[in-house]
Amino acid sequence: MTIIRSAHPADIPAIARIHVAAWHETYRGTLPDATLASLNVRDREQVWRQALTDQPGFRDVVVAERSGRVIGFASGGLAWDAALGMEAEIEALYVLKREQLRGAGTRLIGALARSLADHGLRSAGLWVARDNLAAIAFYRTLGGRVVGSAIRAFGGVAVPSIAIVWPDIEELALWDDPQPVRLAPRRKPAEGDGRWQGAAGRAGLRDARPAA
Ligand SMILES: CC(C)(COP(=O)(O)OP(=O)(O)OC[C@H]1O[C@@H](n2cnc3c(N)ncnc32)[C@H](O)[C@@H]1OP(=O)(O)O)[C@@H](O)C(=O)NCCC(=O)NCCS
Repeated sequence: MTIIRSAHPADIPAIARIHVAAWHETYRGTLPDATLASLNVRDREQVWRQALTDQPGFRDVVVAERSGRVIGFASGGLAWDAALGMEAEIEALYVLKREQLRGAGTRLIGALARSLADHGLRSAGLWVARDNLAAIAFYRTLGGRVVGSAIRAFGGVAVPSIAIVWPDIEELALWDDPQPVRLAPRRKPAEGDGRWQGAAGRAGLRDARPAA
């Protein structure tokens, strides 16, 4: 079973370990070997301690747990980057490689979006490295729209990147649901029955999710 919850200070060592491991697993070939080799868990712990405690403005960090171990995390908050044109920015989303493709990433970003929406932020976006095709496919599965590209500073290196947005954050927050919704039995909608269309569309969207 996957548990999604807000991060506590006690999660900082696990978050830092996942961050370093995920960069090695994801960015070999995107970032120089020297950059990857210079990453260390202790530095990341400091960064995440600051993120969880000192940062001005609203930010949230959520973690995914399986069998009592943190296996992934997501963070985001008020957008730092006006170029995205969105109120919230998803800053980090990492699931350990051996735990991927079992629904944790979907629920992490959904829970983060839920929290950002509950804090009044109405739209969300992120930057992803242009050659991170797996992540781009993942975000598009969740309804993200590719709206631009730019060379961005990432890990101290200039990286060609893609902007992905959800102009209505509620569309992303929909994925904060561990239970797939059962589809209503098919029937022909009565003329003018707009509610049926909406409910079926939403249920269909959720029904496509794997039970994590
Ligand atoms: C991107 C990431 C967070 C997705 O998390 P995940 O737990 O593996 O994703 P889910 O199991 O929730 O996947 C949901 C859907 O996304 C799509 N998807 C996920 N990974 C994919 C991949 N490698 N290739 C193509 N589609 C993919 C699938 O359609 C999947 O739906 P399915 O289960 O019906 O097949 C995770 O793969 C990861 O941490 N990657 C490395 C770090 C990274 O790139 N982070 C993003 C930086 S911007």
